[in-house]
Amino acid sequence: MKTFDEVIPEITTILQSQGDTLKQIEKLIINRDLNGRIRLVVDEKIKKVPTLEKIVETIAQNMADALGPRVPDKEKILYESKIDTIINGVPCFSLEGFPNVIVADRLLTESDWTNIVPIKSDSHRIVFYSIKGGVGRSTALAVTAWALAEEGKKVMVLDMDLESPGLSSSLLSREKSTAYGIADWLIEDLVDNDEEVFPYMTALSDLSRNGEIYVVPAYGKYPGEYISKMGRAWMPKYLENNNSRELWQSRLNRLLNKLEKKYKPDVVLIDSRAGIDEISSACITGLGAECILLFSIDSDQTWDGYNILFHHWLRHDTVLKIRERLQIVGAMIPENVPDEYKDSLCEHAWNLFIDQIYDVIPADNVAAEVFSFNKDDTDAPHYPWPVHWNRGFASLPNLHQPLQQQAVRAQIMGIFGDFIDCIKEIINNG
Ligand SMILES: Nc1ncnc2c1ncn2[C@@H]1O[C@H](COP(=O)(O)OP(=O)(O)OP(=O)(O)O)[C@@H](O)[C@H]1O
Ligand SMILES: [Mg+2]
Repeated sequence: MKTFDEVIPEITTILQSQGDTLKQIEKLIINRDLNGRIRLVVDEKIKKVPTLEKIVETIAQNMADALGPRVPDKEKILYESKIDTIINGVPCFSLEGFPNVIVADRLLTESDWTNIVPIKSDSHRIVFYSIKGGVGRSTALAVTAWALAEEGKKVMVLDMDLESPGLSSSLLSREKSTAYGIADWLIEDLVDNDEEVFPYMTALSDLSRNGEIYVVPAYGKYPGEYISKMGRAWMPKYLENNNSRELWQSRLNRLLNKLEKKYKPDVVLIDSRAGIDEISSACITGLGAECILLFSIDSDQTWDGYNILFHHWLRHDTVLKIRERLQIVGAMIPENVPDEYKDSLCEHAWNLFIDQIYDVIPADNVAAEVFSFNKDDTDAPHYPWPVHWNRGFASLPNLHQPLQQQAVRAQIMGIFGDFIDCIKEIINNG
């Protein structure tokens, strides 16, 4: 039997063999179900036109011959009266070369990497993300919050790394921890009990001096039945009055809007989970962030991981909606060979963006607007904002104490200063 990755190329070949006849079908949906089985979905009116019905039947039979059990014996074709409603809310993409053919990709997870929420303008929302974990994301976020607050900014920090939280302890002493956290809100919201926890899930960091740092942790002082809560946090909410459901990403966005309304921060820094999972997808695509920081160390694993993600956006035609928000960050740049390392990092990031993100520059080079940058353009999204590796930070139990010491501050600016300047530019120019 053909494997999952062979299915779409095989279907493409079958459709190509139809030549121009396929153009007679207004819309053909390739439905890929949860098990990865394939069915065709077409408008039921096609049944009234024998020539069209024959075309669809031939395609379905060719698919069954080529793909074996991946195409079910029964109901290879579903005839629907309202063809568009059956793909409502399902991640879809057009099959390359066939504008009238759509692949509907039904997934078990509720994550949707392709539904990009427009930028939210009340505050500056910035997501700290990395494809690989342990690259200094949370540390950089905590230091950034501190540095912005030193300048008098009102900063809100969200620990969205719900399955491996830790950020909050850098910014809050034990005595200041909150009673509840984001996980509690997500659980209580399911039964309309969110008001019970909302007032008690935010605390002012001890590090706030000139400005304020509001910390919204993943969980409160007493995590309680945290694992049981995690098994439910991603649930959609069923809205009985209009018989619909609100995906958990939208619930999270609602929480953030509510927090912003109450605390009116200038900036919201969101600590996303690493990797390609549901929490990261919600943070990157679902919160209307204006800037998505892609923390990167120069390794094959990093570039392969981003390549998978960018390719998904490219295939689903969503890359245009998100590309201007992306920014590579050079994470933990080694202290001994910074120039060589940075050049290599920049080159790899540039290759990735050229392949998947940037426009192809036309041969005559007279296009009015192309989204593309030279490798050495320091304003380009691929050009790494640097965070330097520092021995002292490699074994830090928490950030809370060091940030209170005057002597450490100069050292911190040496490590994070350039990075923080880049963030300030976004905030001050926005
Ligand atoms: N600039 C730095 N130089 C050296 N060590 C660092 C630096 N930043 C963070 N560290 C150390 O690296 C480790 C991981 O840092 P951190 O928790 O910030 O990474 P992360 O990307 O948030 O990880 P995770 O994916 O587990 O959430 C910690 O021990 C931290 O003290
Ligand atoms: Mg972290």
